[in-house]
Amino acid sequence: MFASTEPLAGRIAVITGASRGLGGVLARAVHAAGARVAALARPSLALEKFAAEHPEMLVAPCDVSAPQDVRRAFDTVAARLGPPDILVNNAALCLLHRIEQATDEDAEREVATNLLGPLWCARAAIPHMRAAGRGDIVNVSSESVRRPAPFLSLYAATKAGLETLSEGLRSEVRGDGIRVTVLRSGSVAGGEISRNWTPERKAEFFEALQKTGFAAFTGEAISPETTAQTLVAILSTPKEANIDLIEVRAI
Ligand SMILES: NC(=O)c1ccc[n+]([C@@H]2O[C@H](COP(=O)([O-])OP(=O)(O)OC[C@H]3O[C@@H](n4cnc5c(N)ncnc54)[C@H](OP(=O)(O)O)[C@@H]3O)[C@@H](O)[C@H]2O)c1
Repeated sequence: MFASTEPLAGRIAVITGASRGLGGVLARAVHAAGARVAALARPSLALEKFAAEHPEMLVAPCDVSAPQDVRRAFDTVAARLGPPDILVNNAALCLLHRIEQATDEDAEREVATNLLGPLWCARAAIPHMRAAGRGDIVNVSSESVRRPAPFLSLYAATKAGLETLSEGLRSEVRGDGIRVTVLRSGSVAGGEISRNWTPERKAEFFEALQKTGFAAFTGEAISPETTAQTLVAILSTPKEANIDLIEVRAI
């Protein structure tokens, strides 16, 4: 039972935020493990490049913060690949601001992407999973829930909300053979989550991290391939067991 090189053969996976960073690596790993994969992200050059490099995947534009986009994307996945039985909620925004610096738009976007996005995706996936009698929902969280750093308190709060949502959802769907896991991540190399941070805000943030000891708490970034290996292990765990929470971070 431990020898299968394609433990996810026959399964259909939706990975959100797959156009770059960790999500792209998660999509490749789940595909390499035998699943058919739909890779979702907002329309961008990065998404076009990802689609050109991965003709083996269904690449679908989808803003997870927009419920109508999510409905449309899941209809496309079901029509083109079949009913999804794996959902990895990886897409997220991490905006750098002290609470008093947060604009209306930034705060709303962060909550809509990191908390409501996974909810809209789970809502669209569950009927397919329930009909199949099996499913895996993996919600990517962050070590910041344990020690919310300055400038990242709203980001950490969205991830803490996602973890609580995961617990409640697990008790709603466990009778249907659907598992819900929180994959809580430490710092990962190759992510572009900081691409919209201004140099000035970034400098203030790093100074605050050093002063408050957060840099030591986080440690070095691990490779996204290591996190992807953990994801495949979660999805390959025999159906009788649910991995509720797994935290993967630097030693
Ligand atoms: N990198 C780290 O060190 C780290 C640490 C802890 C946890 N995490 C978590 O790991 C996950 C991936 O992080 P990452 O570093 O790989 O981030 P990233 O490089 O910024 O990638 C995020 C992905 O999500 C997509 N995305 C953002 N907003 C979206 C939306 N509204 N709808 C659909 N897709 C959207 C992005 O594409 P578009 O913006 O083009 O749509 C991109 O594909 C996140 O959940 C993050 O919170 C990361």
